Amino acid sequence: MKFIVCENPHEFILKEKPMPEPKEGEVLLKIKRIGICGTDIHAYGGTQPYFEYPRILGHELAAEYIKGNAAGFEPGDKVTFIPYFNCGKCVACRNGLTNCCVNIKVFGVHIDGGMAEYVTIPEQYLLHGHGLDYDELALVEPLAIAAHGIRRANVGPNDTVLVMGAGPIGIGLIQFAKIAGAKVIVMDINEYRLNFCKEALNADETINPLHDDVSIKLAEITNGDMANVVIDATGNRNVMNNAFNYISHGGRFVLVGLQKGELSFSHPDFHKRESTLMSSRNATIEDFQYVMDCLKTGKIDPKKYITHRAPFTDMINEFEKWIDPKNNVIKALIEL
Ligand SMILES: NC(=O)c1ccc[n+]([C@@H]2O[C@H](COP(=O)([O-])OP(=O)(O)OC[C@H]3O[C@@H](n4cnc5c(N)ncnc54)[C@H](O)[C@@H]3O)[C@@H](O)[C@H]2O)c1
Ligand SMILES: [Zn+2]
Ligand SMILES: [Zn+2]
Repeated sequence: MKFIVCENPHEFILKEKPMPEPKEGEVLLKIKRIGICGTDIHAYGGTQPYFEYPRILGHELAAEYIKGNAAGFEPGDKVTFIPYFNCGKCVACRNGLTNCCVNIKVFGVHIDGGMAEYVTIPEQYLLHGHGLDYDELALVEPLAIAAHGIRRANVGPNDTVLVMGAGPIGIGLIQFAKIAGAKVIVMDINEYRLNFCKEALNADETINPLHDDVSIKLAEITNGDMANVVIDATGNRNVMNNAFNYISHGGRFVLVGLQKGELSFSHPDFHKRESTLMSSRNATIEDFQYVMDCLKTGKIDPKKYITHRAPFTDMINEFEKWIDPKNNVIKALIEL
Protein backbone atom coordinates (compact mmCIF):
# COMPACT_ATOMS: atom_id res chain seq x y z
CA MET A 1 0.00 0.00 0.00
CA LYS A 2 1.01 3.61 -0.57
CA PHE A 3 1.77 6.09 2.18
CA ILE A 4 3.22 9.61 2.37
CA VAL A 5 5.88 10.33 4.96
CA CYS A 6 7.21 13.69 6.09
CA GLU A 7 10.87 12.64 5.95
CA ASN A 8 12.29 16.02 7.03
CA PRO A 9 10.92 19.57 7.16
CA HIS A 10 9.74 20.55 3.64
CA GLU A 11 10.05 16.99 2.36
CA PHE A 12 7.12 14.63 1.74
CA ILE A 13 7.89 11.27 0.06
CA LEU A 14 5.38 8.82 -1.43
CA LYS A 15 6.42 5.27 -0.46
CA GLU A 16 5.11 1.69 -0.49
CA LYS A 17 4.92 -0.83 2.38
CA PRO A 18 2.97 -4.02 3.13
CA MET A 19 -0.67 -3.71 4.28
CA PRO A 20 -0.91 -3.51 8.10
CA GLU A 21 -2.56 -6.51 9.85
CA PRO A 22 -4.86 -5.67 12.79
CA LYS A 23 -3.74 -7.25 16.09
CA GLU A 24 -6.12 -8.36 18.85
CA GLY A 25 -8.35 -5.38 19.74
CA GLU A 26 -7.42 -3.46 16.59
CA VAL A 27 -9.35 -2.71 13.40
CA LEU A 28 -8.21 -2.23 9.80
CA LEU A 29 -9.45 0.96 8.10
CA LYS A 30 -9.20 2.18 4.50
CA ILE A 31 -8.55 5.92 4.59
CA LYS A 32 -10.96 7.98 2.44
CA ARG A 33 -10.29 11.61 3.47
CA ILE A 34 -7.43 13.38 5.25
CA GLY A 35 -7.97 16.94 6.48
CA ILE A 36 -4.93 19.21 6.55
CA CYS A 37 -4.54 21.28 9.68
CA GLY A 38 -2.13 23.80 11.20
CA THR A 39 -0.30 21.01 13.04
CA ASP A 40 0.50 19.28 9.72
CA ILE A 41 1.61 22.59 8.22
CA HIS A 42 3.89 23.31 11.20
CA ALA A 43 5.33 19.77 11.08
CA TYR A 44 6.01 20.16 7.35
CA GLY A 45 7.47 23.64 7.90
CA GLY A 46 9.75 22.45 10.72
CA THR A 47 8.10 24.85 13.21
CA GLN A 48 6.24 22.27 15.35
CA PRO A 49 8.10 22.12 18.70
CA TYR A 50 9.58 18.72 19.74
CA PHE A 51 8.48 17.09 16.48
CA GLU A 52 10.29 13.92 15.39
CA TYR A 53 11.03 12.99 11.76
CA PRO A 54 10.34 10.91 9.76
CA ARG A 55 6.64 10.97 10.62
CA ILE A 56 3.47 9.99 8.73
CA LEU A 57 1.14 12.95 9.35
CA GLY A 58 -2.68 13.02 9.25
CA HIS A 59 -5.08 13.03 12.20
CA GLU A 60 -8.31 14.47 10.68
CA LEU A 61 -9.55 11.26 9.11
CA ALA A 62 -12.57 9.64 7.52
CA ALA A 63 -12.33 5.95 6.67
CA GLU A 64 -14.11 2.78 5.57
CA TYR A 65 -14.23 -0.04 8.12
CA ILE A 66 -12.52 -3.05 6.51
CA LYS A 67 -12.06 -5.66 9.23
CA GLY A 68 -11.91 -6.30 12.97
CA ASN A 69 -14.19 -7.37 15.80
CA ALA A 70 -15.52 -3.97 16.92
CA ALA A 71 -19.10 -4.36 18.16
CA GLY A 72 -21.65 -2.52 15.99
CA PHE A 73 -19.36 -2.14 12.95
CA GLU A 74 -19.67 -3.94 9.61
CA PRO A 75 -17.22 -3.95 6.69
CA GLY A 76 -18.11 -1.02 4.43
CA ASP A 77 -19.28 1.27 7.27
CA LYS A 78 -18.17 4.90 7.12
CA VAL A 79 -16.24 5.81 10.28
CA THR A 80 -13.95 8.31 11.94
CA PHE A 81 -12.02 7.98 15.17
CA ILE A 82 -10.65 9.89 18.14
CA PRO A 83 -6.94 10.29 17.31
CA TYR A 84 -5.84 10.94 20.92
CA PHE A 85 -4.59 7.62 22.26
CA ASN A 86 -4.60 7.79 26.06
CA CYS A 87 -2.97 5.59 28.70
CA GLY A 88 -6.07 4.91 30.84
CA LYS A 89 -3.98 4.97 34.04
CA CYS A 90 -2.76 8.51 34.73
CA VAL A 91 -4.48 11.07 36.95
CA ALA A 92 -6.21 12.75 33.98
CA CYS A 93 -7.48 9.43 32.56
CA ARG A 94 -8.69 8.31 36.01
CA ASN A 95 -10.75 11.52 36.14
CA GLY A 96 -12.22 11.04 32.65
CA LEU A 97 -10.01 13.75 31.12
CA THR A 98 -8.64 11.53 28.35
CA ASN A 99 -8.00 14.69 26.25
CA CYS A 100 -5.12 15.76 28.51
CA CYS A 101 -3.68 12.33 29.41
CA VAL A 102 -0.16 12.63 30.82
CA ASN A 103 1.07 10.03 28.31
CA ILE A 104 -1.10 11.03 25.33
CA LYS A 105 -0.07 9.84 21.86
CA VAL A 106 -1.80 11.79 19.12
CA PHE A 107 -2.12 9.70 15.94
CA GLY A 108 -0.25 11.57 13.19
CA VAL A 109 1.69 13.74 15.65
CA HIS A 110 3.48 11.65 18.31
CA ILE A 111 3.01 8.38 16.39
CA ASP A 112 2.54 7.68 12.66
CA GLY A 113 -0.86 8.80 11.37
CA GLY A 114 -3.25 8.58 8.49
CA MET A 115 -1.51 9.73 5.28
CA ALA A 116 -1.74 6.16 4.06
CA GLU A 117 -4.13 3.94 2.13
CA TYR A 118 -4.75 1.73 5.18
CA VAL A 119 -4.21 2.07 8.93
CA THR A 120 -4.84 -0.08 12.00
CA ILE A 121 -6.03 1.51 15.26
CA PRO A 122 -7.27 0.26 18.65
CA GLU A 123 -11.03 -0.33 18.28
CA GLN A 124 -11.87 1.71 21.41
CA TYR A 125 -11.34 5.01 19.52
CA LEU A 126 -13.64 4.17 16.59
CA LEU A 127 -16.78 6.26 15.93
CA HIS A 128 -19.59 5.14 13.61
CA GLY A 129 -20.52 7.67 10.92
CA HIS A 130 -24.29 6.97 11.22
CA GLY A 131 -25.15 8.50 7.84
CA LEU A 132 -22.52 11.24 7.73
CA ASP A 133 -20.44 11.30 4.55
CA TYR A 134 -16.67 11.13 4.29
CA ASP A 135 -16.22 14.92 3.93
CA GLU A 136 -18.23 15.54 7.09
CA LEU A 137 -16.45 12.77 9.00
CA ALA A 138 -13.03 14.26 8.16
CA LEU A 139 -14.11 17.53 9.81
CA VAL A 140 -15.35 15.99 13.06
CA GLU A 141 -11.96 16.17 14.83
CA PRO A 142 -11.21 19.89 14.28
CA LEU A 143 -14.84 20.69 15.14
CA ALA A 144 -14.51 18.64 18.34
CA ILE A 145 -11.52 20.84 19.38
CA ALA A 146 -13.81 23.86 19.02
CA ALA A 147 -16.76 22.18 20.75
CA HIS A 148 -14.48 21.38 23.68
CA GLY A 149 -13.37 25.03 23.93
CA ILE A 150 -16.99 26.22 23.99
CA ARG A 151 -17.87 23.60 26.61
CA ARG A 152 -14.87 24.66 28.74
CA ALA A 153 -16.08 28.28 28.48
CA ASN A 154 -19.62 27.17 29.41
CA VAL A 155 -21.08 29.49 26.76
CA GLY A 156 -24.80 30.30 26.99
CA PRO A 157 -27.40 32.68 25.53
CA ASN A 158 -26.44 35.61 27.76
CA ASP A 159 -22.81 35.56 26.73
CA THR A 160 -20.94 37.88 24.41
CA VAL A 161 -18.09 35.82 23.00
CA LEU A 162 -15.01 37.29 21.36
CA VAL A 163 -13.39 34.66 19.11
CA MET A 164 -9.86 35.73 18.18
CA GLY A 165 -8.62 33.96 15.03
CA ALA A 166 -10.92 32.80 12.25
CA GLY A 167 -8.99 29.76 11.00
CA PRO A 168 -10.60 26.30 11.00
CA ILE A 169 -10.53 26.20 14.82
CA GLY A 170 -11.98 29.70 15.22
CA ILE A 171 -14.64 28.93 12.63
CA GLY A 172 -15.72 25.95 14.73
CA LEU A 173 -15.75 28.08 17.89
CA ILE A 174 -17.97 30.69 16.19
CA GLN A 175 -20.47 28.05 15.09
CA PHE A 176 -20.76 26.33 18.49
CA ALA A 177 -21.00 29.68 20.30
CA LYS A 178 -23.88 30.62 17.93
CA ILE A 179 -25.57 27.27 18.56
CA ALA A 180 -25.28 27.99 22.31
CA GLY A 181 -27.19 31.24 21.64
CA ALA A 182 -24.36 33.69 22.31
CA LYS A 183 -23.59 36.96 20.56
CA VAL A 184 -20.34 36.38 18.65
CA ILE A 185 -17.68 38.93 17.76
CA VAL A 186 -14.82 37.74 15.57
CA MET A 187 -11.36 39.28 15.46
CA ASP A 188 -8.81 38.53 12.73
CA ILE A 189 -6.34 40.37 10.49
CA ASN A 190 -7.50 38.38 7.45
CA GLU A 191 -10.33 40.30 5.77
CA TYR A 192 -11.30 37.33 3.55
CA ARG A 193 -11.85 35.15 6.63
CA LEU A 194 -13.73 37.93 8.48
CA ASN A 195 -16.09 38.32 5.50
CA PHE A 196 -16.63 34.57 5.42
CA CYS A 197 -17.54 34.61 9.15
CA LYS A 198 -20.08 37.38 8.64
CA GLU A 199 -21.66 36.01 5.48
CA ALA A 200 -21.52 32.24 5.91
CA LEU A 201 -21.51 31.87 9.71
CA ASN A 202 -23.70 34.77 10.76
CA ALA A 203 -21.08 36.28 13.09
CA ASP A 204 -22.65 39.33 14.76
CA GLU A 205 -19.65 41.64 14.52
CA THR A 206 -16.09 41.55 13.19
CA ILE A 207 -12.98 43.47 14.26
CA ASN A 208 -9.81 43.81 12.20
CA PRO A 209 -6.90 45.05 14.36
CA LEU A 210 -5.23 46.38 11.21
CA HIS A 211 -8.11 48.89 10.87
CA ASP A 212 -9.40 49.38 14.43
CA ASP A 213 -8.16 49.58 17.99
CA VAL A 214 -9.58 46.34 19.37
CA SER A 215 -10.29 47.62 22.91
CA ILE A 216 -12.11 50.71 21.63
CA LYS A 217 -14.15 48.81 19.01
CA LEU A 218 -15.04 46.05 21.48
CA ALA A 219 -16.14 48.64 24.08
CA GLU A 220 -18.34 50.30 21.40
CA ILE A 221 -19.97 47.02 20.38
CA THR A 222 -20.61 45.93 24.00
CA ASN A 223 -21.67 49.31 25.46
CA GLY A 224 -18.50 49.34 27.53
CA ASP A 225 -19.01 45.86 29.03
CA MET A 226 -16.32 44.05 26.95
CA ALA A 227 -16.61 40.29 26.24
CA ASN A 228 -17.55 37.98 29.09
CA VAL A 229 -16.02 35.08 27.13
CA VAL A 230 -12.76 35.68 25.24
CA ILE A 231 -11.33 32.75 23.30
CA ASP A 232 -7.98 32.64 21.57
CA ALA A 233 -7.68 30.67 18.34
CA THR A 234 -4.79 32.64 16.86
CA GLY A 235 -1.93 30.98 18.72
CA ASN A 236 -0.28 34.43 18.76
CA ARG A 237 1.38 35.48 22.02
CA ASN A 238 0.80 39.25 21.58
CA VAL A 239 -2.87 38.64 20.84
CA MET A 240 -3.15 36.57 24.03
CA ASN A 241 -1.35 39.14 26.22
CA ASN A 242 -3.51 42.01 24.91
CA ALA A 243 -6.69 39.99 25.31
CA PHE A 244 -6.56 40.18 29.11
CA ASN A 245 -7.89 43.73 28.54
CA TYR A 246 -10.85 42.46 26.50
CA ILE A 247 -12.35 40.37 29.35
CA SER A 248 -15.43 41.83 31.04
CA HIS A 249 -15.65 41.97 34.84
CA GLY A 250 -16.56 38.43 35.91
CA GLY A 251 -15.48 37.10 32.52
CA ARG A 252 -13.43 34.12 31.38
CA PHE A 253 -10.55 33.70 28.94
CA VAL A 254 -10.02 30.35 27.22
CA LEU A 255 -6.80 29.50 25.39
CA VAL A 256 -7.50 27.09 22.56
CA GLY A 257 -4.65 28.49 20.48
CA LEU A 258 -1.15 27.44 21.42
CA GLN A 259 2.16 29.31 21.48
CA LYS A 260 5.62 28.51 22.80
CA GLY A 261 6.36 31.40 25.16
CA GLU A 262 5.19 32.84 28.45
CA LEU A 263 2.15 35.02 28.94
CA SER A 264 2.13 38.13 31.08
CA PHE A 265 -0.73 40.20 32.43
CA SER A 266 -1.40 42.77 35.12
CA HIS A 267 -2.47 40.92 38.23
CA PRO A 268 -4.43 43.93 39.65
CA ASP A 269 -6.42 44.20 36.38
CA PHE A 270 -6.97 40.43 36.31
CA HIS A 271 -7.95 40.45 39.98
CA LYS A 272 -10.35 43.38 39.91
CA ARG A 273 -12.30 41.63 37.14
CA GLU A 274 -12.27 38.31 39.03
CA SER A 275 -11.22 36.83 35.68
CA THR A 276 -10.98 33.12 34.98
CA LEU A 277 -8.17 31.83 32.75
CA MET A 278 -8.26 28.32 31.31
CA SER A 279 -6.72 26.30 28.52
CA SER A 280 -8.58 23.86 26.30
CA ARG A 281 -6.73 20.83 24.94
CA ASN A 282 -7.99 18.33 22.36
CA ALA A 283 -11.50 16.94 23.03
CA THR A 284 -13.26 14.02 24.68
CA ILE A 285 -15.77 11.50 23.35
CA GLU A 286 -18.61 13.77 24.59
CA ASP A 287 -17.37 16.53 22.27
CA PHE A 288 -17.06 14.15 19.32
CA GLN A 289 -20.62 12.88 19.89
CA TYR A 290 -21.98 16.43 20.22
CA VAL A 291 -20.27 17.47 16.95
CA MET A 292 -21.68 14.43 15.12
CA ASP A 293 -25.18 15.26 16.42
CA CYS A 294 -24.81 18.85 15.20
CA LEU A 295 -23.74 17.57 11.77
CA LYS A 296 -26.59 15.05 11.58
CA THR A 297 -29.21 17.65 12.49
CA GLY A 298 -27.75 20.14 10.00
CA LYS A 299 -26.87 22.72 12.65
CA ILE A 300 -23.41 22.80 11.12
CA ASP A 301 -22.43 22.52 7.46
CA PRO A 302 -18.65 22.16 7.30
CA LYS A 303 -18.70 21.79 3.50
CA LYS A 304 -18.96 25.57 3.31
CA TYR A 305 -15.31 25.88 4.19
CA ILE A 306 -13.72 22.95 2.37
CA THR A 307 -11.96 25.25 -0.09
CA HIS A 308 -9.36 22.91 -1.66
CA ARG A 309 -9.07 19.21 -2.54
CA ALA A 310 -6.55 16.87 -4.15
CA PRO A 311 -6.21 13.14 -4.81
CA PHE A 312 -3.75 11.37 -2.49
CA THR A 313 -1.02 10.98 -5.10
CA ASP A 314 -1.18 14.72 -6.07
CA MET A 315 -1.01 15.94 -2.48
CA ILE A 316 2.77 16.45 -2.45
CA ASN A 317 2.49 18.87 -5.41
CA GLU A 318 -0.50 20.72 -4.01
CA PHE A 319 0.79 21.17 -0.47
CA GLU A 320 3.01 24.22 -1.14
CA LYS A 321 -0.01 25.95 -2.73
CA TRP A 322 -2.22 25.12 0.24
CA ILE A 323 0.16 26.78 2.70
CA ASP A 324 0.55 29.94 0.60
CA PRO A 325 -1.73 32.57 2.22
CA LYS A 326 -2.60 34.15 -1.12
CA ASN A 327 -4.63 31.07 -2.07
CA ASN A 328 -7.14 31.66 0.76
CA VAL A 329 -7.24 28.06 1.92
CA ILE A 330 -9.55 27.43 4.87
CA LYS A 331 -9.73 23.61 4.86
CA ALA A 332 -7.98 21.37 2.34
CA LEU A 333 -8.89 17.68 2.02
CA ILE A 334 -6.97 14.78 0.48
CA GLU A 335 -9.20 12.20 -1.20
CA LEU A 336 -8.57 8.48 -1.64
N1 LIG B 1 -6.60 23.16 21.77
C1 LIG B 1 -6.10 22.27 20.95
O1 LIG B 1 -5.97 21.12 21.32
C2 LIG B 1 -5.74 22.67 19.57
C3 LIG B 1 -5.94 21.79 18.51
C4 LIG B 1 -5.66 22.24 17.22
C5 LIG B 1 -5.16 23.50 17.02
N2 LIG B 1 -4.93 24.32 18.10
C6 LIG B 1 -4.40 25.67 17.96
O2 LIG B 1 -5.46 26.54 17.61
C7 LIG B 1 -4.92 27.67 16.93
C8 LIG B 1 -5.73 27.93 15.67
O3 LIG B 1 -5.62 26.85 14.75
P1 LIG B 1 -6.07 27.04 13.22
O4 LIG B 1 -5.80 25.75 12.56
O5 LIG B 1 -7.43 27.62 13.14
O6 LIG B 1 -4.95 28.11 12.78
P2 LIG B 1 -4.89 29.16 11.57
O7 LIG B 1 -3.47 29.57 11.49
O8 LIG B 1 -5.56 28.63 10.35
O9 LIG B 1 -5.78 30.38 12.09
C9 LIG B 1 -5.30 31.39 12.92
C10 LIG B 1 -6.01 32.67 12.57
O10 LIG B 1 -5.52 33.68 13.46
C11 LIG B 1 -5.32 34.86 12.72
N3 LIG B 1 -4.29 35.67 13.36
C12 LIG B 1 -2.96 35.41 13.44
N4 LIG B 1 -2.33 36.43 14.05
C13 LIG B 1 -3.27 37.34 14.37
C14 LIG B 1 -3.24 38.62 15.00
N5 LIG B 1 -2.08 39.15 15.41
N6 LIG B 1 -4.40 39.27 15.16
C15 LIG B 1 -5.57 38.74 14.73
N7 LIG B 1 -5.66 37.55 14.10
C16 LIG B 1 -4.52 36.86 13.93
C17 LIG B 1 -4.88 34.41 11.34
O11 LIG B 1 -5.14 35.41 10.35
C18 LIG B 1 -5.73 33.15 11.13
O12 LIG B 1 -6.95 33.41 10.44
C19 LIG B 1 -3.44 27.34 16.68
O13 LIG B 1 -2.66 27.99 17.68
C20 LIG B 1 -3.38 25.85 16.87
O14 LIG B 1 -2.10 25.42 17.31
C21 LIG B 1 -5.23 23.93 19.36
ZN1 LIG C 1 -5.85 19.12 13.38
ZN1 LIG D 1 -3.51 8.88 30.78
